[in-house]
Amino acid sequence: MAAISQFIVLLLLISLANLCNGGITSKFMRKLEASVDMPAGAFPPPAGYNAPEQVHITQGDRHGRGVIISWVTPLSPKPTVVRYWAADGDGNRRNKAHSRITTYKYYNYTSAFIHHATINNLEYDTKYFYELGSGNATRQFFFTTPPRVGPDVPYTFGIIGDLGQTYDSNQTLEHYYSNPKGQAVLFAGDLSYADNHPFHDNRKWDTWGRFVEKSTAYQPWIWTAGNHEIDFAPQIGENTPFKPYTHRYHVPYKTAQSTSPLWYSIKRASAYIIVLSSYSAYGKYTPQYEWLQKEFKKVKRDETPWLIVMLHAPWYNSYNYHYMEGESMRVMFESWFIQNKVDIVLSGHIHAYERSERVSNVRYNITNRLCSPVRDVNAPIYITIGDGGNIEGLANEFTEPQPSYSAFREASFGHAILEIKNRTHAYYTWHRNHDNEPVSADSLWIYNRYWYPEDESFQ
Ligand SMILES: [Fe+2]
Repeated sequence: MAAISQFIVLLLLISLANLCNGGITSKFMRKLEASVDMPAGAFPPPAGYNAPEQVHITQGDRHGRGVIISWVTPLSPKPTVVRYWAADGDGNRRNKAHSRITTYKYYNYTSAFIHHATINNLEYDTKYFYELGSGNATRQFFFTTPPRVGPDVPYTFGIIGDLGQTYDSNQTLEHYYSNPKGQAVLFAGDLSYADNHPFHDNRKWDTWGRFVEKSTAYQPWIWTAGNHEIDFAPQIGENTPFKPYTHRYHVPYKTAQSTSPLWYSIKRASAYIIVLSSYSAYGKYTPQYEWLQKEFKKVKRDETPWLIVMLHAPWYNSYNYHYMEGESMRVMFESWFIQNKVDIVLSGHIHAYERSERVSNVRYNITNRLCSPVRDVNAPIYITIGDGGNIEGLANEFTEPQPSYSAFREASFGHAILEIKNRTHAYYTWHRNHDNEPVSADSLWIYNRYWYPEDESFQ
């Protein structure tokens, strides 16, 4: 009996120590080989004259009945048509939409013809086929529209960040691709890493588009701009930030009353997703600030219980990288996140994985010295998911001891899955690349802040 009570006391002491010193620093160590880009030849263009390539889709409207279909044709702008039909409909009666074409030049690179076609008023929860190109270059794909927006609609998102196009990136994408649950991807920024190559070699944007097509052509990826999308290089005459990204990746910002594709919002199933730009002005009176202030007022939690924000540079980060880079945005907006009970904040930028406790740091008023994060039941969980596997390699140095706001951290590549079950519960899992897909190295039942604001940390 005495031995049992001693054991219980020991367990209590261990859990208390965990509380004081923060959460878990996973001891799992991956091999620290360099990540190199896959060769361009790994992603040859599809066969056929002027075959459409780099196909990707994203949500095209406010509620999920619209889709933006984007593709590139290398030699000729024509055809511009996308034909589409419901899978359970008459395949001979095909609807048509036409693309708008854009091209751009970047230093010594000239893009091919970049097509964007928006299709609206699709049926909810319906599988559609779509077809691009002509003759022997015809290619067919499909997607499924989300269910009608509503408070208890189950929906599953994949979460990926900082992907790049290395062999590790390939493992991440293959892992996600092999998971049948993901219905759309929340992408936390940093796509191709073209800017890590001489003169921001924009052919890397093309190979990246081909690399991810196996997923992006079939389910919407919800885009966030990271620092590797800025492509600001005045030394080679490139003075327009975000030029390649904004030409290639369109988002439905106008339907969110935004004035920039770099910040916008959508409703999808039971989620309201707000995308912010860490690399655009967000101080008081700026367009992004003004927009976000109005934006929170539009969120109706009895319509979309789950409020998710994506921004690239994390606010809570206990790795020895990018110190304080998210701090000024946190100072501007954190109190709004608390007041509006944001459920989850997704970031990238740090090339590793971390999940926070529900904490806030909004009490400080210069003189009160209350400048440390504290547990806050109204605060979001911050997830850093910059572990896609890009060319810059892994972030494997932690700050020690692990801060109390950090619940779990591990220096491995991977991706996450968020399974929204109903208005109160979502099941969250993180999958490291070194495990088989069904294995989750970190998991948590996340409770909705509006409908069930309990503390999840004692599950
Ligand atoms: Fe980044």
